[in-house]
Amino acid sequence: MKAAVKTAIVTPRFYALGHLGTMAANAPRKILVTSALPYANGPLHLGHMLEQVQTDIWVRFQRSRGHDCLYVCADDAHGTAIMLAAEKLGITPEQHIESMRERHMHDSSGFLIDFANFYSTHTEENRKWSEDIYGRLKANNHIASRTITQAFDPEKELFLADRFIKGTCPRCKAEDQYGDNCESCGATYSPSDLIDPVSAISGATPVDKESKHLFFKLPEFEAMLKQWLDSDTLQPQVANKLREWTDAGLQEWDISRDAPYFGFEIPGETGKYFYVWLDAPIGYIASFDNYCQRTGHNFDEYIEPGGDTELYHFIGKDIINFHGLFWPAMLHSAGLRTPTAIFAHGFLTVNGTKMSKSRGTFINASTYLEHLDAEYLRYYYAAKLSNSVDDIDLNTDDFIQRVNSDVVGKVVNIASRCAGFLRKGFDNTLSPECAEPQLLADFIAAGDNIAALYEQREFNKAIREIIALADRANQYIDDKKPWVLVKEEGQNAEVHAVCSVGINLFRVLMTYLKPVLPAMAAKSEAFLNISLDWTALESPLVNHTLSKFKPLIQRIDPKQVEAMVDASKPTEQNTPTAAQQPVTQTKSDDDMQQAETIEFDDFAKVDLRIAKITAADHVEGADKLLQLTLDLGELGSRQVFAGIKSAYQPEDLVGKHTVVVANLAPRKMRFGVSEGMVLAAGPGGQNIYLLEPHDGATPGMKVK
Ligand code: 2FM
Ligand code: ZN
Repeated sequence: MKAAVKTAIVTPRFYALGHLGTMAANAPRKILVTSALPYANGPLHLGHMLEQVQTDIWVRFQRSRGHDCLYVCADDAHGTAIMLAAEKLGITPEQHIESMRERHMHDSSGFLIDFANFYSTHTEENRKWSEDIYGRLKANNHIASRTITQAFDPEKELFLADRFIKGTCPRCKAEDQYGDNCESCGATYSPSDLIDPVSAISGATPVDKESKHLFFKLPEFEAMLKQWLDSDTLQPQVANKLREWTDAGLQEWDISRDAPYFGFEIPGETGKYFYVWLDAPIGYIASFDNYCQRTGHNFDEYIEPGGDTELYHFIGKDIINFHGLFWPAMLHSAGLRTPTAIFAHGFLTVNGTKMSKSRGTFINASTYLEHLDAEYLRYYYAAKLSNSVDDIDLNTDDFIQRVNSDVVGKVVNIASRCAGFLRKGFDNTLSPECAEPQLLADFIAAGDNIAALYEQREFNKAIREIIALADRANQYIDDKKPWVLVKEEGQNAEVHAVCSVGINLFRVLMTYLKPVLPAMAAKSEAFLNISLDWTALESPLVNHTLSKFKPLIQRIDPKQVEAMVDASKPTEQNTPTAAQQPVTQTKSDDDMQQAETIEFDDFAKVDLRIAKITAADHVEGADKLLQLTLDLGELGSRQVFAGIKSAYQPEDLVGKHTVVVANLAPRKMRFGVSEGMVLAAGPGGQNIYLLEPHDGATPGMKVK
């Protein structure tokens, strides 16, 4: 078998700087791009968006250069965590992952991520490819099987991964620590070292239990992987990190999990499932397969070795072992092509530290979109991203300053200051010739270097070049002072010439920025009456009529950022009444509400009851909450914390009847346990209106 692994590895195609300027004239490259598949058990946050935005900019850039470039992704839908989450929600894993997928697609599209396909790993295509690839590994004798001993939850009858075991840290004695590391003192250990270990799922004491597991024989690929690590397919820091693994001696990789597990059952085995990380990267192939079936695009040439297509995986640096070792080895054994390159990025920090819920810096994509325009963040990420694995910091003050200064103050400013003169004096039509051919030529010539920087994922440097050009354009207008010329006799032609040059320079800049700011580019296209095409820049816009100039993007108001951070904090605001959910209604909220219908069965699960408010009190330390005691008739009495303090005095509520969600799982809040949710309408503040039934409704009555 070892001889087989010595066959050639597809080497990456890196283009020399000089080549890029003329690349679009050559045959289009055929490029398939992926970003890591998000887990289908939680919402997307700004860390996910860093990767998707990075990938999307690169893909849009490739297309702007005339290449055939497709971006596919999917939800990573398998595993114990997803199975348990669905169980907690009282729905099937299939329902859980489908609703997550809808949410993920909604958020990504809010950030203008242009997927050719966003699929799921829980699909027939992925089952087929997982079984197929596993079958090939097995046929090649690359699968071993042996019995291992693991912690087992005797109550839940489930093998426990380390993170599902909790106990007291053996070093610092902090309680309630996970099975592999202590959050208090940072110690790492194995679950068997924990004092008084318990299953985090059931609370039972884990026992040791044996079972047969299947392993992928990674050590057999040592020679192939060493060659791969030396082949410039990976960034130097990534290759170095992975060499630590090969140098330490590769271990066989456990690819099976015992039932119960949400995933694909392994062919030829009973009660054994593919480990989520086995079928996750295969999901790239499955998503692309599904795309090709739907569109008739050629599939084989992207997965067979030796062709002229290119394949790139964008990932975070935390998952380089899966993509840089296990995945190429699996593909190699299966006789499939290996990636042309893997592009890892660093982690996202916010205001200098790890994203934190208590600081309001663990920001979900949907929360961001409720408060801010996606393009602000796309620009900011582009301005910070390089091709290294260094972490990226989203500093909220710098974010506001940078976007307002660069995008609004510099780029948009060029168009807005010229557009007014052209409209008032020249019927929105540009001058018959370009008055500054050299200046315009310099802008166009800079495109080769900017393209090379995009190609190498040095987006921060590309942005720096573009903004330096914007500075030059503004300087040119400042020097010419059309606002002074326009008041002088006989200077009309000069005003026309200067503003027409300004618009031509703006056109070049927006063409360069189009991969980063696609929506602003579309608005610029409407204003300029042309398509911003990188390959058409050589012809200046002369004698050309513009459309009416409309604002391309608003400045960021720091209050919007504050509101987003506030909305991300786990205060009582985040446990609102049902009516308060859409307090900040935006277009995206509307879309979400239209997209997310529920079935009657889902509605029928909600137990709505009439409740009588028997007591209402202020809650010490809570700005928004009132504590209500509710009489639910036959269901007894309930305590509910409701975010209605801004609209009601407690004494006015006592004796009133209202409607309560009676079967909401109790929620532990800072001030106590809330055992339901009262229903109210209105935008918030003083305008919150508790629902009140007509006379005759009595406590405990079912609302239907
Ligand atoms: O780390 C993660 O979030 C994984 N869900 C990424 C999977 S990437 C690919 F292999 F599917
Ligand atoms: Zn500890």
